[in-house]
Amino acid sequence: MAFIVAIDGPAGSGKGTITKTVGKKMNLINIDTGAMYRCVTLQIINEKIGLEETKKIEKLLDEIDIELKKIGDEDAFFLNGEDVTRKIREQEVNSMVSQVSHIPCVREKMVELQRKIAQNKDVIMEGRDIGTNVFPNADVKIYLDASAEERAKRRMKQNEEKGIVSSYDEILANILFRDNNDKTSSVAPLKQAEDAIYVDTTSLNIEEVTEKITKIILERREKAEKTTGNYDER
Ligand code: DC
Repeated sequence: MAFIVAIDGPAGSGKGTITKTVGKKMNLINIDTGAMYRCVTLQIINEKIGLEETKKIEKLLDEIDIELKKIGDEDAFFLNGEDVTRKIREQEVNSMVSQVSHIPCVREKMVELQRKIAQNKDVIMEGRDIGTNVFPNADVKIYLDASAEERAKRRMKQNEEKGIVSSYDEILANILFRDNNDKTSSVAPLKQAEDAIYVDTTSLNIEEVTEKITKIILERREKAEKTTGNYDER
């Protein structure tokens, strides 16, 4: 049977890291839905399509082939046969992906694809609308959050590690701006599902959050097993 864990939350809440570590620990397939929006953005850039050219975007979506493959220990994304794992994290995509993710036909296609990828599998899926829209019946729904100040500190640290010089005030302002955009958007606004468990990671480290979420998943799995009687322990 399929078991679905939905991890939603704002940018910088630690979703990416946590989904990876929990997925590995619990043997769940990790599906990064943000990366899928990044693939569409890259293809729009490759084909030099304007964001208002809806017909062209619809055609691109009809033809697009996005594949998630495991290469060694890493998750790799293939766009029309090409490994774009790195390219989709570059600045050009960063600066456009939010706008692309708000185009209704793009969302429609991505949600359809996300449901298809997860069919009959045990997955952990991170994004913004997984528990509210993609899988409203997910077995576990987590809403990960952290204060804007803490998220800005984490982003500063990541930048430092990459050798990027940045200003705390600018990063914080950008986070507040994005939060407001995401929460007030008319298309798929970021919000906690009513039945999601709220986890505030502001004062927790990665190990503590991983432990907390693993415990929640184990409890739910046991419950699912008892109800259906046929969940394989792996
Ligand atoms: O998590 P990320 O930064 O890779 O996400 C890229 C963009 O896609 C970001 O602007 C939020 C958006 N997104 C979305 O709208 N819905 C999702 N399920 C996942 C990401």
